[in-house]
Amino acid sequence: MKSSEIREKFLKFFESKGHTIVRSSPLVPGNDPTMLLTNSGMVQFKDVFLGLDSRPYSRATSVQRCVRAGGKHNDLENVGYTARHHTFFEMLGNFSFGDYFKRDAINFAWELLTKVYLLPADKLTVTVYFEDDEAYDIWANEIGVPKERIIRIGDNKGSRYASDNFWQMADVGPCGPCTEIFYDHGADIWGGPPGSAEEDGDRFIEIWNLVFMQFNRDEAGVMHKLPKPCVDTGMGMERLAAVLQHVHSNYEIDLFQNLIKAAARETGATDLESKSLRVIADHIRAASFLIVDGIIPGAEGHGYVLRRIIRRALRHGHKLGQTKPFFYKLVEDLDIEMGTAYPELKEAKARVAATLKAEEERFGETLENGMKILEAQLAKDPSKLDGATAFTLYDTYGFPLDLTADICRERNITLDEDGFNAAMEQQKKTARAAGKFKMAANVEYSGEKTKFIGYDDLSVEAKVIALYANGASVQELKAGEQGIVVLDTTPFYAESGGQVGDQGEIKAAGGLFTVEDTLKIQADVFGQHGVLTQGSLKVGEIVAAQVDLHKRGRTIRNHSATHLMHKALREVLGGHVAQKGSLVDPDKTRFDFSHNAPLTAEQIAEVEAKVNKEILENHATKAQHMSFDDAVKHGAMALFGEKYGDEVRVLDIGTSKELCGGVHVQRTGDIGLFKIIAEGGVAAGIRRVEAVTGEGALALVQGMARKLNEAASALKSNPDELIVKIGAVQDQVKSLEKELAALKSKLAAGQGDELAAQAVDVNGIKVLAATLDGADVTGLRETMDKLKDKLKTAAIVLASVNDGKVSLIAGVTADTTSKVKAGELVNFVAQQVGGKGGGRPDMAQAGGTDPSGLPGALAGVAEWIGSRL
Ligand code: ALA
Repeated sequence: MKSSEIREKFLKFFESKGHTIVRSSPLVPGNDPTMLLTNSGMVQFKDVFLGLDSRPYSRATSVQRCVRAGGKHNDLENVGYTARHHTFFEMLGNFSFGDYFKRDAINFAWELLTKVYLLPADKLTVTVYFEDDEAYDIWANEIGVPKERIIRIGDNKGSRYASDNFWQMADVGPCGPCTEIFYDHGADIWGGPPGSAEEDGDRFIEIWNLVFMQFNRDEAGVMHKLPKPCVDTGMGMERLAAVLQHVHSNYEIDLFQNLIKAAARETGATDLESKSLRVIADHIRAASFLIVDGIIPGAEGHGYVLRRIIRRALRHGHKLGQTKPFFYKLVEDLDIEMGTAYPELKEAKARVAATLKAEEERFGETLENGMKILEAQLAKDPSKLDGATAFTLYDTYGFPLDLTADICRERNITLDEDGFNAAMEQQKKTARAAGKFKMAANVEYSGEKTKFIGYDDLSVEAKVIALYANGASVQELKAGEQGIVVLDTTPFYAESGGQVGDQGEIKAAGGLFTVEDTLKIQADVFGQHGVLTQGSLKVGEIVAAQVDLHKRGRTIRNHSATHLMHKALREVLGGHVAQKGSLVDPDKTRFDFSHNAPLTAEQIAEVEAKVNKEILENHATKAQHMSFDDAVKHGAMALFGEKYGDEVRVLDIGTSKELCGGVHVQRTGDIGLFKIIAEGGVAAGIRRVEAVTGEGALALVQGMARKLNEAASALKSNPDELIVKIGAVQDQVKSLEKELAALKSKLAAGQGDELAAQAVDVNGIKVLAATLDGADVTGLRETMDKLKDKLKTAAIVLASVNDGKVSLIAGVTADTTSKVKAGELVNFVAQQVGGKGGGRPDMAQAGGTDPSGLPGALAGVAEWIGSRL
């Protein structure tokens, strides 16, 4: 039975039992900080189990794409070494939300396996949680599974609920006891039944897990009863396919065989049983689907999981002898296997391949060097790999630790992980020390929080509540001193969310403090950094704080435009565009985002048009505080991987809705013109655009107009006719170049006549050695031909000097080559000018770098020839 048929039969069966077929959700769970990647079918229903969300159905079924390569369920290291582990796999599942419970769940599963998929009942063994008598009873007395094939599995080492038969989505969240169904692949495969010492072998393979969801586990590990008991089941599609296709390893099923062949084709491997091919075939699935779902390789979070998977695949390709980019070529093969079941893959395949290729090119260069370092270290000590080397590989060569561990494992070498962690910690410390230059965080403060009024007001009367000079708390600042001022109330925005801190002035009765920057000292305490330009300033004084209106105005125009641009980029380039960083200051907005190709001129123009349209529509902006959940419902875009508090600030501007604490314009029309000024790549898969607004855009346009006018007037034209004029000038240059070449060759011919007259007779051979001013190599050659014609029996050397370099050419007429060889002749001269050359007996060329030797060398030619005759 083919994989496609297996999926279909599953869904149809549960549909016939009143279940609604639900599409696979993406691999990145929506707004769930407890979970990095979708690891099972129930993830999209988590809130339904918890009673926080409801669906129009109480029974559902799905084929869910899953990745287990990080977090609580991580199979990465097993991939390639067992017959059944994958980073990416498909989970067939049925779910009950407070509807049926253990009895139906078990009966459905048994019926599907034995009546639809026709598995022999005597090949099936089941496990139950040790205290779950109810499930035991259903298996034994209703289904009729013989007691020796129903195994109770307890808690590991007595730790409550830590059991293979107690399933948890993550460290927190829905969980419950489970019953698992195992298939016996037969006595010729090594392994034992669940609970036995040999259970890790590949003989008894768990194919289906039926979880009886009953609890929600909180951070403290306390179990809270769910509002209603639920069912969550998961069957590995690949494991079931192995059984139904009568093979003993997932890697032998239809889908994998084709991917393995493709991996062999691209790496040149011939042994189709190779573990490395399996790893590659597995990893192309995980890597591609992660990219489909919007992840790009990176240094943290999701991006790092993806990077580890890709790099592990590349290392295995390397092991098979493939050192060039190859992995991305498998996307096409994957599409053939899975594109029909997952149209999102088909749609995104070009982007997926491009992302992989970029990462391959990036890592390819360092993989080879890293392997050399590793081999060198292992040659010194073949028993273990020290932490420092593992860290160098990680830090300098981008080897994720599990990749290094993988290599060590293959060779039975121990890896000093503690040493690695120590080196990592040390580096973090150094980095922290180096990152303190802004000194915002390292002053001690334990007073009141700052009241920030700068969303609405740009000046205020406030009280100085703390002062710092040289990082230490002081009571007074004196004229000329650098310092930090903390006020009880402030209109100054402190740098955060990409928006720079405000500048301005703080005026006291007897002093003036110029604010150069505003940074947070603590989450809610703002520090105005700057210099006391006049008088003195004391703690307790009442001051007038005034933000620099002009700079603030420019900054917020750029900030608001950033939101509109983010939205427009997603519309023009696709939903995979996610913010990766931003900097908004008075001069510009700089915005980094995930995308893996340069933007075309058309795309840039389209983004500009969309943003300017929103500006012209002059929408009012609206900021509201609400709960995170409400913000998500409201449709606000939260930044990937960012942590938000319970209450968030949602900013609606035009059609964009984002979580943002920054300061913005009141109406989009305040932004003025928006114009992108630069676009480029900053890292693999990350682009950066810079744009200007308002006065910045005006200055840009005026600057462009000025340059255009200057260019036009330099060409005695006007801007409208400039292009035509440039074409005419280019034509003119071309025809002048032609004319010049003709004249040069005429000149050379003329010089030829003069030169012929200078030839001296050496035993019947005309010998000439001369310099041709200004000639290039072509000129030298043409002159040489003419001279040979004229002088008939001759040996000639011509030289020219251009930019300190000597060009030499030697020619010998055919009747003389038996006596003088052009190659030797040219080298006689070349040696004296720091060069060397060669060629045929009748014509040879050389170059040299020392023109000072040239006159002497040429003067010696006649004598040198004479001596050889
Ligand atoms: N969620 C359960 C599992 O992944 C079914 O095993």
